[in-house]
Amino acid sequence: MAEKNGVKLAPSILSADFSRLGAQIDEAEKAGADWIHVDVMDGHFVPNITIGPAVVKSIRSCTKLPLDVHLMIESPEKYIKQFAEAGSDIITVHAEACKHLHRVVENIKELGAKAGVSINPATPLELIYEILPSIDLMLIMSVNPGFGGQKYITGSEDKVARLRKKIDELGISCEIEIDGGITADNALKVVNAGAQVLVAGSAVFNKKETIAEAIAKIKNSIA
Ligand code: DX5
Ligand code: ZN
Repeated sequence: MAEKNGVKLAPSILSADFSRLGAQIDEAEKAGADWIHVDVMDGHFVPNITIGPAVVKSIRSCTKLPLDVHLMIESPEKYIKQFAEAGSDIITVHAEACKHLHRVVENIKELGAKAGVSINPATPLELIYEILPSIDLMLIMSVNPGFGGQKYITGSEDKVARLRKKIDELGISCEIEIDGGITADNALKVVNAGAQVLVAGSAVFNKKETIAEAIAKIKNSIA
């Protein structure tokens, strides 16, 4: 099934069964996932703790898909080398967590990974205008980061649309990703606003359907 304008789906393993992580990633890859989204949380930037570089390294050996590593951590500059060496293809840091965002972005690129920047729902888009030409990916949070399975914050698509306009005006190639509460019911809305990469956790890894069924449902909704 061809997706609209080559939109990519990045299942977030946060909602996967961690006791069968390799098998679940394999299932997602076979079902047409484009990237694997890895949510790293430190209990400081967000009120939850998840995984670190060791798990990224293990995942690296069980999939060929790009690893899209979303760092929801304070002082990410201290850890990006470890995440790059573990095999991350894209490393995304939060603008709110970086005192020297430009330096962090340059470091990520020097380490051979693609650089992404994310902002929380209450952070104004204008905060990242200066960094846009330097990054490969801009991740718009459509929930407050910290947990899977939260409800999409209505209006996040307007932020995506404003970002789309800004990127087009600048004539740069930065991709737009959206993360939080994405389902087959709202995927088309965010794609129409300009999102090119959709993160989906609980809509892909859940007990109601197989991973393949869930991925097909989201892809069909934007086909
Ligand atoms: C939230 C994470 C998301 C999360 C998405 O803090 O960054 O990637 O796993 O999960 P869903 O799709 O269930 O909102
Ligand atoms: Zn995420």
